Amino acid sequence: MGKLILEVDKVTLTFKGIAALVSVSFNIPAGKIVSLIGPNGAGKTSMLNCISGRYTPDRGSIRFLGENILHLPPYKRARLGIARTFQNIALFKGLSVLDNLMVGRHSHLQYGLFSSFFYFGKTKREEETHRLRVEEIIDFLNLSPYRHKIVGSLPYGVQKRVELGRALALEPKLLLLDEPMAGMNLEETEDMARYILDINEDWKTSILLVEHDMGVVMDISDEVVVLDFGQVLATGTPEEIQKNPQVIAAYLGQEDSLFLGR
Ligand SMILES: Nc1ncnc2c1ncn2[C@@H]1O[C@H](COP(=O)(O)OP(=O)(O)O)[C@@H](O)[C@H]1O
Ligand SMILES: [Mg+2]
Repeated sequence: MGKLILEVDKVTLTFKGIAALVSVSFNIPAGKIVSLIGPNGAGKTSMLNCISGRYTPDRGSIRFLGENILHLPPYKRARLGIARTFQNIALFKGLSVLDNLMVGRHSHLQYGLFSSFFYFGKTKREEETHRLRVEEIIDFLNLSPYRHKIVGSLPYGVQKRVELGRALALEPKLLLLDEPMAGMNLEETEDMARYILDINEDWKTSILLVEHDMGVVMDISDEVVVLDFGQVLATGTPEEIQKNPQVIAAYLGQEDSLFLGR
């Protein structure tokens, strides 16, 4: 059996007595793409928040490379190699693409969130090292034409790519993506799927993908975990999931049909 990068074990999370996650367990094998799917409100974003440290589960454990991380604040989990993007874009809209990636790299790598802006005072050599990595990401994501553009002025699809770049700037071992294709057109969606595959292949980054586009999910995932009302309904390969009767039933009447391609 291959190494596991993430082990989620019986995680339960409640909000004022209402359960968002109920004894959720699943693993992410190192180097794999695992998708977390399920109807709206199923608990997908809550699960990502438990992994990144924004929420603390009532019960259960989460291990990253064998180490329990539940006592660690978000920036320490980021430093260990867990990066994420958000369902709603979270960028500094008034800064350039380059500055967003530079701030992204610094905000978690060395300090807490409040120190994000101190990078402007760092030594030139340190800044050069960071800039080289950031330039690599800009090339990788084909963001060169937008390097000095103010993020808020860019098309939505490009902003989503910048957000992915900001997460990559941390050089993560595990990347958590919350609906990276949401609101994208077909071409942008296919580009994003290609980038996710390339990140996984070229940099061996493990990926946990939350996504409603079933065409993409079934295309690029090694494994799929289905959540329904905060519980794991099924876990398996895309082929197994697509023919699982319980999964099919849970999706009846949902807009993201399991059978629609892109
Ligand atoms: N901060 C919060 N406070 C209260 N309830 C929340 C909070 N975050 C999520 N929930 C609830 O948890 C459930 C799961 O939400 P969420 O994880 O966002 O689902 P999904 O991402 O699958 O659509 C929902 O019922 C939602 O209302
Ligand atoms: Mg969500």
